[in-house]
Amino acid sequence: MSKVLAVLFKGGEYNTAKLLGSAENALGLRSFIESNGRTLFATADKEATLDEHIKDAEVIITTPFNPAYISKERIESAKNLKLLVTAGVGSDHIDLDYINKSGRKISVLEVTGSNTSSVAEHALLTILALVKNFIPAHKVATEELGWDIAKISRDAYDLEGKVVATIGAGRIGYKILERLAPFKPGELLYYDYQGLSPELEAKVGAKRIDTIEELVSKADIVTINAPLHAGTKGLVNKELLSKFKPGALLVNTARGAICDAQAVADAVKSGQLRGYGGDVWFPQPAPADHPWRSFTNKFGGGNAMTPHVSGANLDAQARYSLGVKNILTSYFTGKKDYRPQDIILLDGEYATKSYGNDKKVKDVK
Ligand code: NAI
Repeated sequence: MSKVLAVLFKGGEYNTAKLLGSAENALGLRSFIESNGRTLFATADKEATLDEHIKDAEVIITTPFNPAYISKERIESAKNLKLLVTAGVGSDHIDLDYINKSGRKISVLEVTGSNTSSVAEHALLTILALVKNFIPAHKVATEELGWDIAKISRDAYDLEGKVVATIGAGRIGYKILERLAPFKPGELLYYDYQGLSPELEAKVGAKRIDTIEELVSKADIVTINAPLHAGTKGLVNKELLSKFKPGALLVNTARGAICDAQAVADAVKSGQLRGYGGDVWFPQPAPADHPWRSFTNKFGGGNAMTPHVSGANLDAQARYSLGVKNILTSYFTGKKDYRPQDIILLDGEYATKSYGNDKKVKDVK
């Protein structure tokens, strides 16, 4: 009997029936998978248990929140592997370029759109938290039991009138622009090699900027919404940070490795950035001494980090669990009539333009 391996996050003492995304609940798909003649092995251990069970897995379900890094070596050891499904959005934890070059007919699908609103809301929340100096203010009220207005107000502003820029204006980037527009920002700018249509630009009042350097030099707030791929890894490094407007805010809910972690922490400490926030790290889980766990700006604030939770709330889990079921249904029936937007690699070939503008992309529509 062929095997489906699911590597998810641990529910443990917090597990409830609603927490579909936990390894214990296996996306609520155990009986569905077994009734399709497959065995299911679900785990939260993305090291030794994964290495043992990957060898004979035909399908592997992973999640970006507790990412099982599906490296070249792991793919080589998975001799029966045909399908990788990401429960969520963002499949960079899989060595996509290696699969693409290997000639193996492995497909990679994700549940596109399943948590894009969840992330857009979290990005907006993080922007507001940093702009308003909210987290230090909350600490004054509940931890310090204080009332020091000046301590907070010396570094608190409004979003209205500020220039906000997104690196990447795909599904999430655009939803962030839509949510920002009612705040009456000074300008909304974006940089993306796939431009928006004039209609979509006009709807939110966004302007395309030709180079990333120009984009960051104009913005009070920069938000990152591009996938992690060879062209975005380490993109926000010391050099690019030096081009930011001094005192800008940076919010990253895309992927941690798009930023040079130490360079970002140093930029906040030096004042080049007023603050940084987001929910994505590299690696995940982040070690206790990761620089993003402890940096602050000179006012003791400017850190709005959370663990990788934005796309994993209960609404999002319900949507991506259903999406994984739909993908598996297409696969188990042999129809492979996947939604085109869910396909990252089809039989080893790229089917999306979002993982770099250097990729040869197969038309799957
Ligand atoms: P999408 O594919 O709709 O949009 C991505 C956009 O980024 C595309 O328009 C693409 O052209 C652009 N892009 C790629 N490389 C770029 C570059 N070098 N410079 C500028 N733009 C570039 O994807 P979607 O749904 O908006 O998701 C984006 C990413 O957000 C995912 O790949 C994932 O890494 C992350 N994400 C994070 C979540 C979380 O829980 N924090 C949940 C969902 C997604």
